[in-house]
Amino acid sequence: MKRLAVLVSGGGSNLQALIDAIQSGEISAKIELVISNREQAYGLTRAAQNGIATHYLGIKNYPDSNARAEKLNTLLAAHQIDYVVLAGYLSILKPETIRQYEGRIVNIHPSLIPKYCGEGFYGHHVHEAVLANGESESGATTHFVDEGVDTGKIIYQERVPVLKGDTVETLSARVLTVEHQLIVRTVRDLCSGSVKTSE
Ligand code: GRF
Repeated sequence: MKRLAVLVSGGGSNLQALIDAIQSGEISAKIELVISNREQAYGLTRAAQNGIATHYLGIKNYPDSNARAEKLNTLLAAHQIDYVVLAGYLSILKPETIRQYEGRIVNIHPSLIPKYCGEGFYGHHVHEAVLANGESESGATTHFVDEGVDTGKIIYQERVPVLKGDTVETLSARVLTVEHQLIVRTVRDLCSGSVKTSE
């Protein structure tokens, strides 16, 4: 059984999709811990409600980013983590962590990479840019994490139409729905070995 760590910064709906897919048996894995850089992240509450160990790892308890990265690596090692899943995690991992878990860290991004990704493109900023550019479609992407921002090898993508009259709220809701399907498919296939790590 693969051991997962899930990193969140916000509501944790992608985390919830993983929790539900593990409970339904679609994913053969165990979430060993959930870590957030935001103390009030609802994702931590979702984890606690499902009996998963939680950790706040942020500027309040680890003001020094190197100490924070060290603590993260210690936690991952202590829990013998196989795969790290960035599910709405808005902090950049340090190179040491990426190297230590090379090919075993995946991220979900709410656009069709290489469009609308990289520095500054996260959450509502992505959907605002998609609408501002009059795109006819958007979507979500899962990818391995390398030392760039959203530059790692793409695993899966799912497209959604941009509809007339769409707002940031309606478009992000439509994209979030496919994010949930995509993150479950990605983690399921990673844990079953049908998606090879990018090593
Ligand atoms: C998602 O669109 C995710 O891609 C982005 O943050 C949004 C919230 O995700 N990074 P969640 O509900 O916290 O999983």
